[in-house]
Amino acid sequence: MAFTYFFRDMHTLELIVKYVVPYVAGRSKIRVWDAGCAMGPEPYSLAIMFAESMGQFAFRNFRIEATDLDVSNSFGKIISEGAYKEEELKRIPQEYFNKYFRPDGTIGYFRVVDKIRNKVIYKRHDLLSLQTVGYGFSLIVCKNVLLHFQAAERVEVIRMFHAALAPGGYFAMEQTQKMPEEVSHLFEQMTSGGHLFRKIEGPR
Ligand SMILES: C[S@@+](CC[C@H](N)C(=O)[O-])C[C@H]1O[C@@H](n2cnc3c(N)ncnc32)[C@H](O)[C@@H]1O
Repeated sequence: MAFTYFFRDMHTLELIVKYVVPYVAGRSKIRVWDAGCAMGPEPYSLAIMFAESMGQFAFRNFRIEATDLDVSNSFGKIISEGAYKEEELKRIPQEYFNKYFRPDGTIGYFRVVDKIRNKVIYKRHDLLSLQTVGYGFSLIVCKNVLLHFQAAERVEVIRMFHAALAPGGYFAMEQTQKMPEEVSHLFEQMTSGGHLFRKIEGPR
């Protein structure tokens, strides 16, 4: 089973809010791709952070396309139900837990509220197909996934992300990986301590 948890990397979530929320202001469509989303804690954490930082009106235009290889073919059901065991929810800041989770019918389970659940659309997808799930993304998040790939595969997957991003769109990747040299000219790093990058246009 894929390892993941809610609010796994608060530092990157906060960087995303700082840079991406002003970037998407005023857009009629705000598309986010969470690539390698596992069972849903990551896309739901992202949706909560955006709900907290955007106006209610702007949040209506927000969608996360959450994808995973999902060898067990079980993530779709888990994500669409949005119900998680109480122990899995312990790291969620109390204020967000109170606001965005409700007891589920099953004892010991809590469900993400519809306002957040409706924002996450799940699809099975293999990143190594090098086929994007769409274009014009404001943000692509791919964390704790790239380490599973060969160096050459990482380069090609990141090139695909670059093509899938809207002009000036953002890409967040895992802290443990360096941006490969072959693609570093395609992105600008937002802060030296964080793995948030902005797409640079120009020759590829
Ligand atoms: C360690 S989990 C990371 C989950 C989440 N991004 C996080 O950081 O908490 C790695 C995920 O990558 C997915 N994965 C591995 N290879 C993949 C591929 N080729 N295409 C899409 N997803 C893949 C796995 O199924 C797994 O859910």
